[in-house]
Amino acid sequence: MDETVAVVGCGLIGRSWGIVFARAGCRVRLYDPDAGAREAAPAAIRAGLAELKSYGLFDGDPGAALAGVSVHGELAEALAGAGWVQENGPERLDAKRALFAELDAAAAPHAILASSSSGLKISAVAEGLAGRARCLVAHPINPPHLIPCVEISPAEWTDPAASERARGFLAAVGQAPMLVRREIDGFVVNRLQGALLNEALRLVAGGYADPDDLDVCLREGLGLRWSFMGPFETIDLNAPGGIADYGARFGAMYEAMAGQQASVPDWGAEAVAALERARRERLPAEALGARSAWRDRRLVALAAHKRRQAEEDGG
Ligand SMILES: NC(=O)c1ccc[n+]([C@@H]2O[C@H](COP(=O)([O-])OP(=O)(O)OC[C@H]3O[C@@H](n4cnc5c(N)ncnc54)[C@H](O)[C@@H]3O)[C@@H](O)[C@H]2O)c1
Repeated sequence: MDETVAVVGCGLIGRSWGIVFARAGCRVRLYDPDAGAREAAPAAIRAGLAELKSYGLFDGDPGAALAGVSVHGELAEALAGAGWVQENGPERLDAKRALFAELDAAAAPHAILASSSSGLKISAVAEGLAGRARCLVAHPINPPHLIPCVEISPAEWTDPAASERARGFLAAVGQAPMLVRREIDGFVVNRLQGALLNEALRLVAGGYADPDDLDVCLREGLGLRWSFMGPFETIDLNAPGGIADYGARFGAMYEAMAGQQASVPDWGAEAVAALERARRERLPAEALGARSAWRDRRLVALAAHKRRQAEEDGG
């Protein structure tokens, strides 16, 4: 794809975005103020492309894709000629505001400025900027080169044409964009994840189930369907007469449960420490890195499986 992309901040998420854009054949200009991050990013992108290639998920030539990747210690240099800027700096409002002011001042006028922020609304980050109409959140799920969904969350003053361009661009580089129509705390993905996490915490705190057994419910249960269809299609197929039949059979049960799910769960230090003890019994802290690599191998295998299935049944 004939596009120049600036990846601003090359930590965990920035490196993975680098793989996405390099895979699509973009010229990728990486910037990070930290020398260690600048040094590590190209090797991570090389390894990511090689892994995708080995699973049949990248049809191009990794060498050619890497030749289009450059690393810069000066922000203005990285922004030169970029039509898309993906910001992946620290998740702090003051840091994002300062960085977006720099981006708006230095990026080309036609460039879209997209933040990877997990929870900071673009209306708070870019409110006062002259170029705020081209600013939006493009929130990925970690790691974006293996999980395609990206939430586009514009402010009410973001130009709708910028959101449309974002949707087209992200689809063209192989992602699966969705639009958050109105700004809301946590956007949509983390609201969905939060609903599940909050209920899991309530169930554990109330002594209804152990953390390990909650994993069974997801890993060997609900998660299997959710890897290829959403909650509404799921219930459409879970009653003989489809979703209307499902609503008639089970709607009252969900309504009754919702009343019991209204309490704010305890995310305090003690509650988290109990979860931490349960997790560390399963996985020692020193094994977290290896387990993350394992997760990525599982994700790449799943992506390959999903691609094969889509080719076979058009689904
Ligand atoms: N980790 C996740 O699961 C995840 C998922 C989705 C979105 N995000 C979002 O992505 C962003 C980056 O998160 P991360 O997990 O990669 O963090 P990280 O700590 O791994 O990386 C942040 C990088 O930003 C760099 N940085 C510091 N100051 C900077 C500046 N002024 N300009 C540019 N870069 C700067 C740091 O050197 C570091 O390399 C955050 O906004 C986060 O909320 C994270």
